[in-house]
Amino acid sequence: MARKIIIDTDPGIDDAMAIFFAFQASQLEVLGLTTTFGNVSVDLATQNAITLTEIAKVNVPVAKGVAVPSKIAPRPHPDFVHGADGFGNIDWPAPKGKAIEKSAAQFIVDTVREFPGEVTIIALGPLGNLAKALELDPEVANLVDEVVLMGGTAIEYGNVSPVAEANIMNDPHAADLVFTAAWQVTMIGLDVTHQVLLDNSVLERIKKANPTEGGFLYDCAQHYINFYSSRFDMDGCYFHDASTIAYVMDPSIFGVELGAVRVACEGIGIGQTIFAPQGMTFPEPHWNDVPMTQVCMEVDSKKLLALFETTLS
Ligand code: BDR
Ligand code: CA
Repeated sequence: MARKIIIDTDPGIDDAMAIFFAFQASQLEVLGLTTTFGNVSVDLATQNAITLTEIAKVNVPVAKGVAVPSKIAPRPHPDFVHGADGFGNIDWPAPKGKAIEKSAAQFIVDTVREFPGEVTIIALGPLGNLAKALELDPEVANLVDEVVLMGGTAIEYGNVSPVAEANIMNDPHAADLVFTAAWQVTMIGLDVTHQVLLDNSVLERIKKANPTEGGFLYDCAQHYINFYSSRFDMDGCYFHDASTIAYVMDPSIFGVELGAVRVACEGIGIGQTIFAPQGMTFPEPHWNDVPMTQVCMEVDSKKLLALFETTLS
């Protein structure tokens, strides 16, 4: 039976990669997309999510979510990474469809209630919608199969400060609620996504095999790859959001460590995901009685990229 997933997203070039990857995976049944601010405004993220469903000809609901962080001032959208349109400035036409009337958080709650114990939430952006779903109906934490999120970093440097990753930094308070709720969270952060380099040779082969989705991803990714090559002298881009899809398809690609994660919500360490490995105790109490998160620390990069390529080709 296919695994039921909801993708919470801020498309976003690597979000687009993740969404097409999930749409093509026969092991997964995408029940809907929920959107958040992050790489772009929530209005544009919603429009982009609908665009992706129309390109892939997949009929799933798109529910619009939070527009701003829960407690801090919004940070500027990173147009230098994803383009002002979120798709690498490719001038793609607006979609025809519309978002459903329900909010993202309500859609999450209702869908989880409809399929208790069966739904995995894959979160690819700031975590405000998940925090709001917990607020609307705290019981959902016990009814979700798993939350798999792209965000945070345990020991690798951050990408928006020396210690913070962008999705967590964009709403640290929401992230702390998500890491401390009673659901199974798997964190796919920079510890693993910085070990995987997606280059144009893979995207060119996918484009050849699958001109529709592959062609779109190739065109979007040029802006993203240029950002990485100019900023870090890299030949390709890091494989952030799509790693979550690979994880739900084949967790054996990753090595995980268990521990309690708390998020720093103020000061110069704001946005840091502070990881206390299972079995270690500290005089400071903040990690006591916090559910264990599975933190991905190792990845088989070859296997991961092969799964992405074969699924999309
Ligand atoms: C994360 O931030 C966004 O720019 C990407 O879409 C990804 O979700 C990487 O830090
Ligand atoms: Ca994202």
